[in-house]
Amino acid sequence: MSRHTSSDKQPDKPWGGRFTEATDRFVESFGASVDFDRRLYRYDIEGSIAHARMLVHVGVLSEAEGQAIEKGLLEIRDEIERGDFAWLVELEDVHMNIEARLTERIGEAGKKLHTGRSRNDQVATDLRLYLRDEIDRLTAELVRLQRGLLDLAEREAGTLMPGFTHLQVAQPVTFGHHLMAWFEMLQRDKERLRDCRRRVNVMPLGAAALAGTSHPIDRAYAARLLGFDRVAENSLDAVSDRDFAMEFNAAAALLMCHLSRISEELILWSSAQFDFIELPDRFCTGSSIMPQKKNPDIPELVRGKSGRVYGNLTALLTLMKAQPLAYNKDNQEDKEPLFDTVDTVKACLRIFADMIPALRVKGEHMLAAARQGFATATDLADYLVRKGVPFRDAHEIVGKAVRYGIDHGKDLAEFSLEELRRFSSSIEEDVFAVLTLAGSVAARDHLGGTAPAQVRSAVQRARLSLDKAG
Ligand code: ARG
Repeated sequence: MSRHTSSDKQPDKPWGGRFTEATDRFVESFGASVDFDRRLYRYDIEGSIAHARMLVHVGVLSEAEGQAIEKGLLEIRDEIERGDFAWLVELEDVHMNIEARLTERIGEAGKKLHTGRSRNDQVATDLRLYLRDEIDRLTAELVRLQRGLLDLAEREAGTLMPGFTHLQVAQPVTFGHHLMAWFEMLQRDKERLRDCRRRVNVMPLGAAALAGTSHPIDRAYAARLLGFDRVAENSLDAVSDRDFAMEFNAAAALLMCHLSRISEELILWSSAQFDFIELPDRFCTGSSIMPQKKNPDIPELVRGKSGRVYGNLTALLTLMKAQPLAYNKDNQEDKEPLFDTVDTVKACLRIFADMIPALRVKGEHMLAAARQGFATATDLADYLVRKGVPFRDAHEIVGKAVRYGIDHGKDLAEFSLEELRRFSSSIEEDVFAVLTLAGSVAARDHLGGTAPAQVRSAVQRARLSLDKAG
């Protein structure tokens, strides 16, 4: 019976041998994963070709059979990519759909492909191949975003802005320094992805259903064909391990936490109250009722999407936590959260990488904000310490000067020398060099400090490290 003709009878199931009645229709669709796992088709075919070549290599399949299988699988791939492939729910998942079609196309040899493997090691292999590719794509987008940040940080290395703690003006910083803080957060995310990739790139194939196979397979051979760094050491673990998916999703959750924090700052800064930046129009929308509105939708949406990635992590952890070894059908539920996380993170990175270089920076507003809030109070205290005043006394003296400034509506830099000397006789004419914002940031001239020169060299080091990582 052709799988393309519809009839009341169900197509023969690859596992139908021991069954006497057809599957209940609803059970069939309830148990099927083909609607979502078909996106693994490329990896399924890649894995099957490697498996077939390995079987030829060890003499289980003839050369002719191997070639027929490979050719058939490549034609099926074309069929799928042309949109000519009929996915059947009755055939449950991507694996059985492709295998059934192969047999339909090439006959007997197609039935031999599944020798020495099971869908259990097959699906675990497919997922790892998929995730390995996606990690590489995500990393490329992450690097694109980082390069955008570096360019902006270099341009804004000397731009003064208030630095905040408790969202209160704390000390002046440079905007370039703030951007480089974002760069560092993303750098750790990239390292986590790289580290996770090492544990993704391990081959389950050969574990078969759970116990391995009695056929004389050569796992290392298949692993080489598929670019795996090594083979899974234990067949039970190989088919049941989904650590790689949870670990990836954990790294993705952290990355989304960072994008969400960055989003929050972009949203605050584009408000009229801050007015530090302007997001390009093409990343914003208006309001249907308030004509004046320009809303920072994109950062808001990215902030919101962090929730689904955290949710996916919880779903995967919960999915796995009570599963006995080895494979259980529960595992079919690993795909949708994983796919959703990949899609979400990829889209967020892409949109950020496009948006960041297009930010309009309003340096004059940042400067005006830094002039409020006594941002150089710590500089005055440090100055007194250099003149021999113990730090705790200096702190007290400057606190009183700030109080005076609040009462008289003046920033410290606007005090006269006489006014300043009322608080400490150790203050002299040279104090004004430290009370300016530019003097304050320039003084923080050490590795990791906010001085423009430090920001510029941090950018250089970062560029070198990105270039080196290739
Ligand atoms: N669709 C299944 C999954 O996603 C493939 C493995 C099925 N294995 C089985 N023994 N039923 O996990």
